Amino acid sequence: MKLIREIWQSIVRRDPLSTDKGKSELVFLNVWLHIHPAKVKKENLRFKHSFYLGFITFFLFIILVTTGIALMCYYRPYPPQAYQDMKDLQFAVFMGPFLRNMHRWAAHGMVVCVFLHMCRVFYTGSYKKPRQFNWVVGVLLLLLTLGLSFTGYLLPWDQLAYWAITVGTNIGSYAPLIGGQLRELLLGGHSVGEAALLRFYVLHVAVLPSLVILLTIVHFWRVRKDGGLSRPVWKLKPQKQEALVTIGAPAEAVPLHVAAASTDKTYGLMEVVTGKPIFETITPEEEEDTVFSYPYAFVREAVVLMGTVTTIMMMSLFMNAPLEEMANPAVTPNPAKAPWYFLGLQELVSHSALLGGVVAPALMVLALLAIPYFDRNPSRRPGDRKWVLWVFTLFVVANIALIIVGTFFRGPGWAWVPPWVHVVARPE
Ligand code: HEM
Repeated sequence: MKLIREIWQSIVRRDPLSTDKGKSELVFLNVWLHIHPAKVKKENLRFKHSFYLGFITFFLFIILVTTGIALMCYYRPYPPQAYQDMKDLQFAVFMGPFLRNMHRWAAHGMVVCVFLHMCRVFYTGSYKKPRQFNWVVGVLLLLLTLGLSFTGYLLPWDQLAYWAITVGTNIGSYAPLIGGQLRELLLGGHSVGEAALLRFYVLHVAVLPSLVILLTIVHFWRVRKDGGLSRPVWKLKPQKQEALVTIGAPAEAVPLHVAAASTDKTYGLMEVVTGKPIFETITPEEEEDTVFSYPYAFVREAVVLMGTVTTIMMMSLFMNAPLEEMANPAVTPNPAKAPWYFLGLQELVSHSALLGGVVAPALMVLALLAIPYFDRNPSRRPGDRKWVLWVFTLFVVANIALIIVGTFFRGPGWAWVPPWVHVVARPE
């Protein structure tokens, strides 16, 4: 028993969890957990502050990686095997449909949640100093998420996949000068074919996930270094701008001016806990507002993880990912639609190729990247930011409205069709 305890201690190297020191050490002596501070602000744990949307996005990505690796065992990225492997998954592989469904619904979920997470960060003004750069990292993550979903769309090699990617890459090719070349580089030719499938596969399973992992690490690191989550607006009050750190015993205390304190920091330099005071970085008043990450933050995150996995599993039990006939370049479905998140752009393209293919996407990305640097208003209170909130809300509503129009109101020849007239024009 003593030996087992010694081995366990050599691995965890910390005091028992019943002590405050043990709870802190659990976090900062653990390679995975030390992305958290040992203590967090109570109000930041409230569901209504962040809706845990960043975590849900991250957990969906984990589901995608795990189910994706399993799918790779059954999938060969060249036609017509790619399609046949899909059929095998559907009919021959044990729990194949469930695996494929989980991957598909988690992918759609990630696109939705990353967008909602961005909206939460915007509406709470959490992109403001010192978090400007993390917002930019976030925008890149949003683009990578769309890229991951788009490249995965082609892999089943059915009619839906083939024509969605044909339409999607056509939208991109309207960009002046480089549009055509970019499309050719992506497709490995003039049209979607064998080369395109292989390139999309490489991007989907290697390049883009690696970039997402890399940027997610930077993103989390910045959340931590920017002082944890921004304080909920209702809790903001004027804070002192300077911190005094006192080193040594009180009698020989040397006040040392370190730096201007962040007004909404959720942790100190190091988490020093009752019983072992070496130095102090937070006031007793702030200390009262905090709780140990273990168990308070971890339990909530575990619940969110279980909720996310359960939701995706339930969806996968009851809803099947579509699989149409094998891709056929000679038979164009009418209408051929891009993946749903690009349907707003396709709707714009139907009015003006330049607007939908170039101006709107370029403006959207540039505007998103520029937001934290152009919005100089330091206040995060909604009352002080009325017009920015209106502009952003307009952007969100316009995006959603165009996607709804493209999804439900467009029929053959891209003509206006009310959704209750269920017209799905089948290829001849
Ligand atoms: C793969 C995509 C992403 C993942 C996995 C992710 C994950 C997270 C997590 C776990 C947090 C802390 C908890 C929370 O807010 O729920 C967070 C915070 C943050 N995220 Fe993201 N995020 C992603 C994309 C984005 C996007 C698209 C943006 C904005 C364009 C963004 C901007 C931020 C900012 C500024 C914070 C700090 C918020 C604050 O201090 O309140 N993130 N992210």
